[in-house]
Amino acid sequence: MFKKFDPKVFALGYVALETADIGRTKNHYLETIGMTETAKGDDGSVFLSIGYQHHEIVLRPARQKALLHIGFHLKPDIEIADFAEQVRKFGLPATIKTDSQPGVAKLVEVEGPAGNVFQFYNAIEAPASGFKRTGAAPLRLGHVAVISRECDKLMRFYQDFLGFWYTDDIEGIATFLTCNRDHHVVNLVNAPESRVHHIAFELRESAQHPVAADALRAAGVQVLWGPSRHTAGHNLAGYHYDPDKLMIELYTDMDTFVPELGMHEARPWHEHFPMKPRTWKVNELSSWGAEFSFNLAAG
Ligand SMILES: [Fe+2]
Repeated sequence: MFKKFDPKVFALGYVALETADIGRTKNHYLETIGMTETAKGDDGSVFLSIGYQHHEIVLRPARQKALLHIGFHLKPDIEIADFAEQVRKFGLPATIKTDSQPGVAKLVEVEGPAGNVFQFYNAIEAPASGFKRTGAAPLRLGHVAVISRECDKLMRFYQDFLGFWYTDDIEGIATFLTCNRDHHVVNLVNAPESRVHHIAFELRESAQHPVAADALRAAGVQVLWGPSRHTAGHNLAGYHYDPDKLMIELYTDMDTFVPELGMHEARPWHEHFPMKPRTWKVNELSSWGAEFSFNLAAG
């Protein structure tokens, strides 16, 4: 319908970040988000788990905050070596690494367009550290939004090489792509910067939004936007900054994409039927028309 092959990956695995104050940043993810430390790296990195998989967040000490890399889980029938070869044929450098990080025995690291580094793997350990009952206590890492000054190149890598589906955009400024049934697994923002716009964790249920907001308040963290229902994706979403001023989204109730039909499963709160991928306006980020003084679009 949109393209002739299925995505090569099926899930976002982890996001690795550099941070200037690893103690303070780690504390936010452990205590306020509700994650568990599963390992330490030789370079001072810490590996943080939501509850089952070895890690969803990696923090590495550095002079300033930065996005290190994003990890994606390859479809089971794709071999690392074959994938690396395909990446090179596509014109990008790919390096196979063994035991380069705890929890992932073998991966291929790809230097993607616009300085974005990706890691692709077939298996990640699942020590089942246990889900926390404190803090926001999310279910999973859902998506990452990246701002890039070379957004077109990044989009071609995601769509033409990895096979992601386009599911919506906001006036061409932000484009939503998925490799599974989530409305979006990545959100690419076209702006003259290169950094993370936000990282999103899915909460267990909508009633968890006030629980999470209370946990943030108790930690002295302000909610910036929401919780409110978005238009694109229709997720109930609230945003805050981590200690590095990296934006974190907590969400529930996101649209389910049906690639076979090229539409999102119909929901009573949808504005259009069928809800097909479309362009939304930047001034209609909240489906409810709720107004927030924080400029979410600028991030
Ligand atoms: Fe998001």
